[in-house]
Amino acid sequence: MNFNESLDIKRNYAEGVLNSYLPTVEGYQETVLEAMHYSAMAGGKRLRPVLMNECFKLFDGKSRFIEPFMAAIEMIHTYSLVHDDLPAMDNDELRRGKLTTWKKYNEAIAILAGDGLLNFAFETAVKAFDMAKTKDDYEIIARALKVLSSKAGVYGMIGGQTADVLHENDSEITEDVINYINKNKTAALIEASMMIGAILAGADEKDIMDIENAAFNIGIAFQIQDDILDIISTTEELGKPVHSDEKNNKSTYVSIYGMDKAHQKVKDLSEQAIGILQDIADENRVDGSFLMTLVETFINRRK
Ligand code: IPE
Ligand code: IPE
Ligand code: MG
Ligand code: MG
Ligand code: MG
Repeated sequence: MNFNESLDIKRNYAEGVLNSYLPTVEGYQETVLEAMHYSAMAGGKRLRPVLMNECFKLFDGKSRFIEPFMAAIEMIHTYSLVHDDLPAMDNDELRRGKLTTWKKYNEAIAILAGDGLLNFAFETAVKAFDMAKTKDDYEIIARALKVLSSKAGVYGMIGGQTADVLHENDSEITEDVINYINKNKTAALIEASMMIGAILAGADEKDIMDIENAAFNIGIAFQIQDDILDIISTTEELGKPVHSDEKNNKSTYVSIYGMDKAHQKVKDLSEQAIGILQDIADENRVDGSFLMTLVETFINRRK
């Protein structure tokens, strides 16, 4: 099987897991539930749950607790996009090739669907406790929840999104602030994904820190590539509007340092990430070739 065929299978698996954990669309709150489904099942690369599962395998993980966490991370990621697209934030009308949630429903429903996905992510992740058998199981699930909650919060993704909107129109933005934004709005959820995979597989402290480091590099490269594609790609290919950053006067790594430096930075960061992951794979004597190709492909993606 070649890489793309394997990736399709892994993506379909992640999507099936997500779908199986989404709430049933019924009751007086039916509209918000439908909007949650619409946003979550609209497509998307499913990078975060796939990465989570690959890191789980890197440490020979076998338990099924991983599934509620795979669903949870994609719910949190989807909520972040639903809110990111709102008129008060990036004001975009297309996401994953479909109308954004606020355009399809309305702003109130999109805010509530985002809130619903965020909360339901935790309702879902705690279901892992129902599968726990030993004290060790409870401990690693609690540890994974701690990472999930902190990386998604004000010291993680929400903090990054806050700095992102506060620094719109800031032509004198510093490299420190850009790094803070990219680390938090994007790398934090990628760190959570990969760390949770390692934690649930029982990886030790040092390995979890190495994974966090690799994920940090991947996350920053991923956001710089996103900012590159916002300039050079097309709406058809991306499934979301291009030139969104220019429209909102966002200062990005690309707008400050230019295209050449941005391409170089993506390359350097991905090499560092792959170096760290390859060392872990070698140490654990597992075949990490799928994960390495995955990282390379996602970072250098065209959509
Ligand atoms: C988009 O993430 C937002 C960023 C952090 C750059 P993805 O590019 O992973 O979006 P989907 O899930 O594939 O739609
Ligand atoms: C958003 O960054 C990152 C999060 C949603 C947390 P962008 O605003 O650049 O993402 P896109 O380009 O709309 O996907
Ligand atoms: Mg944004
Ligand atoms: Mg946006
Ligand atoms: Mg973008």
